[in-house]
Amino acid sequence: MFDAAGPDAQAIIQLWLVLFSVAAFVFCAVCGFAIYGYWRNRRRRQRPASEATISKGFVAGIAVTVLLLLIIFIATLKTSQPFAKEFYHQPASIEVIGKRWWWAVNYLDQEGKTLFQTANEIYIPVGVPVRIRLVSDNVIHSFWVPKLAGKVDMIPGRTNHITLQADRPGTFRGICAEYCGIQHALMAFLVIAESAEEYQKFLISNQAPAASDSQLSELALQGKKVFHEARCAECHSIRGVVEAKGAIVGPDLTHFATRKTIASATVPNRKGHLAGWIADPQGIKPGNLMPSVPLEAEEHHALLHYLESLQ
Ligand code: CUA
Repeated sequence: MFDAAGPDAQAIIQLWLVLFSVAAFVFCAVCGFAIYGYWRNRRRRQRPASEATISKGFVAGIAVTVLLLLIIFIATLKTSQPFAKEFYHQPASIEVIGKRWWWAVNYLDQEGKTLFQTANEIYIPVGVPVRIRLVSDNVIHSFWVPKLAGKVDMIPGRTNHITLQADRPGTFRGICAEYCGIQHALMAFLVIAESAEEYQKFLISNQAPAASDSQLSELALQGKKVFHEARCAECHSIRGVVEAKGAIVGPDLTHFATRKTIASATVPNRKGHLAGWIADPQGIKPGNLMPSVPLEAEEHHALLHYLESLQ
């Protein structure tokens, strides 16, 4: 959070510095008085302080406390005011749904309808404020990208919003900042800020359906069969291939091979990690909703190949 890449994060750092300075001053002052009191007590010959001195000290203590609290109050108001007003009426272009324990990401059109869904990676164009709608269909999560903005809770039955703006291209890690269950610590995601042209390309390529059969190798076609037989499709959608109703328990896998990570930014999306994840998801992230499906070695191999073909 000390390496801000957006205006909101920058404002939060400044507020943090004010709070830290005030807290550091209070800490040093209290320590100073404690040491002074100890030292004074050791010099027993000194007479106790007069009534007048004690009253003065009492009044000064209250005055300093009120002044410091006022500084914190004004600084906090000044920082949070723009967040409340900013783009309040601007429609959201992305919706993020807190899941157990990952993030579904819906890209929206002008009317707010979903164009396509991905998971755990949020692409945004550089230099523009992007309004994001935050919801949850289970427990309370909190959406936090330390380098870009503050935290906003995702509360079941409520819709919240946050605005992300990245002033430079890059990949920024985000995390869940509200304890939400056994895998709270492994509920991360990436925000990828790129140029407007690259972002447009991303939108276009992701609206396309998944690789068709003619684009798949023999092995990948076998893997596709395994995907159906092992009942992966009951939880995962692949647009244009399987779109079972209610298959929103697990991430949409339409362009899975383009993702940088798996299991909510827990491990990189490489063959070895993916193989391990499919074989034993509970070993990597105990308590997550993906069951271990027993597969023969050839089936496992083919399934991996199919998932890696979903460009
Ligand atoms: Cu989701 Cu903590």
